[in-house]
Amino acid sequence: MRIGVLTAGGDCPGLNAVIRSVVHRAVVDRGDQVIGFEDGFKGLLEGRYRELDINEVSGILARGGTILGSSRLERHRLREACDNAEAFRRELSLDALIPIGGEGTLTAARMLSDAGIPVVGVPKTIDNDISATDRTFGFDTAVGVATEAIDRLKTTAESHQRVMVVEVMGRHAGWIALEAGMAGGAHGICVPERPFQVDDLCKMIEERFARGKKFAVICVAEGARPAEGSMPYERGEIDPYGHERFIGIGNRLASELERRLGKEARAMVLGHIQRGGTPTAYDRVLATRFGWHAVEAAHRGEFGMMTALRGTEIVMTPLATATMELKRVPQYRMDETEAVF
Ligand code: F6P
Repeated sequence: MRIGVLTAGGDCPGLNAVIRSVVHRAVVDRGDQVIGFEDGFKGLLEGRYRELDINEVSGILARGGTILGSSRLERHRLREACDNAEAFRRELSLDALIPIGGEGTLTAARMLSDAGIPVVGVPKTIDNDISATDRTFGFDTAVGVATEAIDRLKTTAESHQRVMVVEVMGRHAGWIALEAGMAGGAHGICVPERPFQVDDLCKMIEERFARGKKFAVICVAEGARPAEGSMPYERGEIDPYGHERFIGIGNRLASELERRLGKEARAMVLGHIQRGGTPTAYDRVLATRFGWHAVEAAHRGEFGMMTALRGTEIVMTPLATATMELKRVPQYRMDETEAVF
């Protein structure tokens, strides 16, 4: 078989582990040819690719980022590709395409699949918000980074009797905020799924200070919003890829808490630190398993599908249903933490 692989959307620790696994299973075990498209779907549309052999993927298992490069693509360019899909596939002699990406990439993968390209998707995102899979790789690494940040912020917050607001990624879903907040013992966790009341946060912080615990750490997802009328807040603009540009809820909330409580507050925006660097062992294993199963699915001719983790098993699930809705933090997971939302 001749298999194409690409990484698209925001990068994520573990992408290289998938690429390596695809090459090992396809080239080494099965005698296939693997080509890697550069910079996501752009490389596919522009015919920019290189052959990936065992030497190309040697030593990349623990490396963050993606050796292929990544990018986002405007929808109109993708539609162009779909219109020419068959000619395109013949020209590249592709027997299978393995796009590795998040919700946007998997939607694009489904469009290409509907247009006749034999696609097997692999889900990735540090946000863990793809509903068809129990976990995405990259999430464990991001939670680890955010937890370490909370641990570190606690000691400096305590020394200075400050309120620290740590803003983590999580556009539509608050998984990183929830799990890093729980693991780090944050005193308040704010997620996009549930608008927060600034009054509740103030009350909790005042009670802590009254008990002699003269510091607090609040973990807030970048997509979290205050409840209507709770504090001044306006939405950001929409970028060319349809994503809202966030206005920095961490800084806004820190200022609001400082103003209301008369206590020093600082914000720490973790940003892309959560996405960079080496993947955890968990993420390397999941990514490696996804790569292996994607090649197997291609050999079985199971196209229009993506790999998914269900419990401890890797299964194949239709791309069409996988991208229908995002996986958000359910109420019962919020109830399990003592923190204030
Ligand atoms: O994968 C999603 C994500 O990590 C979001 O949580 C975040 O909003 C986004 O990527 C930021 O990506 P970029 O800065 O690359 O646009």
